[in-house]
Amino acid sequence: MTRKLIVTSALPYANGPIHIGHLVEYIQTDIWVRFQKACGNECYYFCADDTHGTPIMIRSRSEGIPPEKLIERMHKEHLRDFTGFQIRFDNYYSTHSEENRQLSERIYQGALRAGSIIKKTIQQAYDEQEKMWLPDRYIKGTCPRCKAEGQYGDSCDACGAHYQTTELINPVSVISGKPPVLKESVHYFFRLSDYETALKDLFAKGYVQDSVRNKLDEWFAAGLKDWDISRDGPYFGFKIPGEQDKYFYVWLDAPIGYMASCKNFCDRNGMDFEQVWNSGEYEICHFIGKDIMYFHALFWPALLMSASLRVPTKLFVHGFLTVNGQKMSKSKGTFITAETYLKHLDPQYLRYYYASKLTGDVSDIDLNLEDFISRVNADLVGKLANLASRCVPMLTQKLNGRLGRLDEKGNALLEQMQTACEKIKADYEALNYASAVRTIASLADICNRFVEEAQPWVTLKSDPEKTRTDLTAVLNAVKVLTIYLKPILPVFAEKIEAVLDIPPLTFAQVEQRLENKPIRPYIRLVERIEKEKVDAMLEESRQETAPAQPAQLEEPLAPECTIDDFAKVDLRIARISRAERVEGADKLLALELDLGALKKNVFAGIAKAYKPEDLVGRLVVCVANLKPRKMKFGVSDGMVCAAGSGGDQIFLLTVDPGAKPGQRVH
Ligand code: MSP
Ligand code: ZN
Repeated sequence: MTRKLIVTSALPYANGPIHIGHLVEYIQTDIWVRFQKACGNECYYFCADDTHGTPIMIRSRSEGIPPEKLIERMHKEHLRDFTGFQIRFDNYYSTHSEENRQLSERIYQGALRAGSIIKKTIQQAYDEQEKMWLPDRYIKGTCPRCKAEGQYGDSCDACGAHYQTTELINPVSVISGKPPVLKESVHYFFRLSDYETALKDLFAKGYVQDSVRNKLDEWFAAGLKDWDISRDGPYFGFKIPGEQDKYFYVWLDAPIGYMASCKNFCDRNGMDFEQVWNSGEYEICHFIGKDIMYFHALFWPALLMSASLRVPTKLFVHGFLTVNGQKMSKSKGTFITAETYLKHLDPQYLRYYYASKLTGDVSDIDLNLEDFISRVNADLVGKLANLASRCVPMLTQKLNGRLGRLDEKGNALLEQMQTACEKIKADYEALNYASAVRTIASLADICNRFVEEAQPWVTLKSDPEKTRTDLTAVLNAVKVLTIYLKPILPVFAEKIEAVLDIPPLTFAQVEQRLENKPIRPYIRLVERIEKEKVDAMLEESRQETAPAQPAQLEEPLAPECTIDDFAKVDLRIARISRAERVEGADKLLALELDLGALKKNVFAGIAKAYKPEDLVGRLVVCVANLKPRKMKFGVSDGMVCAAGSGGDQIFLLTVDPGAKPGQRVH
């Protein structure tokens, strides 16, 4: 039976770029959506930018552009980044849209009619210079508990205390630097506690994973508080109907953005939005991170209930990303934006790696960069891509590119591949991609063993038709593995489809056999990760996000070494006795170094900075015990010491008069 599903990821804030932390969620969701579609289910993936609120208003002010311009630019950038990571939405919309305004008003009116909206007068911090209300995060001061300076208005990073903004010592506005004043204002509140019983029923029906139920019990035990859903102007958001200068708090209209994105899609595709969203015909599944659970587990369903709209089916909560075991950090270069990643690395690596780590619970997932490199190279490249890269060229280059027939042995191999299908599907469904990846890798091991035993590269000459039979088995197995991998690696799968010359693969084709048909030449699927590229990505991330800093070495210090380490390098004074250009190498000079009792020939990359005739007779410092290196032009038997970044920016070390060639440098 085919299912009908609406799937969403949280709507990213329009005030910053997409980074690899966000991508945990969008990759997790995209894999699930692609899996559902590959099973033949009717599934739509909706998302949007979350565009309202104070940070966006302030950022647009500081850039000197209207907020509408800022969110338009961010929308383009976000969609570009998601597309770069092969994340495929059916609609990527915006909360700053007419659909969202109408739906927000409708839900608000519903809650009002239900009697769940009340007004209260509250005291709030106000910046008189900037003429704006200050959210807690826009006030800094000294922690009332530990007296640490520069702490936010709601909590202290130093001691972890939570407090009221009014308790902060010497508070100042982050925007103007002036002390805020307390002013009274009337706010609208949503009475969450009206929905306590209904919410408990929802959880009893399995709205959230078991692993997050505990958190909810804590919240219920603490008591459900009224939720402040209004903000006073100036504010970038939707005006509250019937009010002059009051707006919906961004978190009121943000989740309604899921509906707006769905409505916009339905309207453009001749579908009836009310039917799609409200009839219960579709399962509605939200994917979110653990930091925004309160909003999605409590406020969002309660809000929908208040307006007599259907509630979602399922909330999937994931944990946070750490890099090398720690929070992403700008100074370590591990705060990596999607854009920077894509300049250096193939998105398939991250999709594969995240999949191999995601299990469907709320624990954090770690991107360990060493493990990342070795797992991608060993499994994705070494096991999976390798099967096709070994077998396809043999068939296309030596056996006129035709698959033959499957024999008993081949059929047995395929049986093994196929029997894993139900388990892999169950793993995908349960978001346990790690388990699916493990199964697929072990199936690839079986195929690689099959190849090792069949030795097609040996039988190719003696028995080409047997070879064809064996390769046919392997490529049929590759086809099955490709079906299994496709939700994770859609582009890899497209390339295999092109090589096998077959229509797009789905789970329906697991049992189909490819025999007696032509295939096409091999296409490179995925390259090995080079560590240098990972390092370059980290370096760029460090530079990009590093705040203007006091003087810093351009090249950071190498790890500490001992005097014994240093003594291993034998530095000697040498006189350059000959210097010549090297034919065919415009950066190199061939130097003859005179160390007194010893002569050395060295190739030095200094031709852009020095003329040979200026060097003869000059004293330099050379690394005299460097292992000789064979180069294209001869053997280089040492190295001369120089500073600088290369090209014409090279500076040879000079030696004060009196030093003699051959003397050791200490
Ligand atoms: N705008 C809100 C969501 C509104 S949904 C109606 C928001 N935006 S966000 O840009 O901060 O985060 C978007 C999603 O990415 C959230 O689900 C969040 O949990 C997730 N992640 C953001 N940083 C993350 C990590 N470092 N690790 C894993 N997921 C993270 O929240
Ligand atoms: Zn403190």
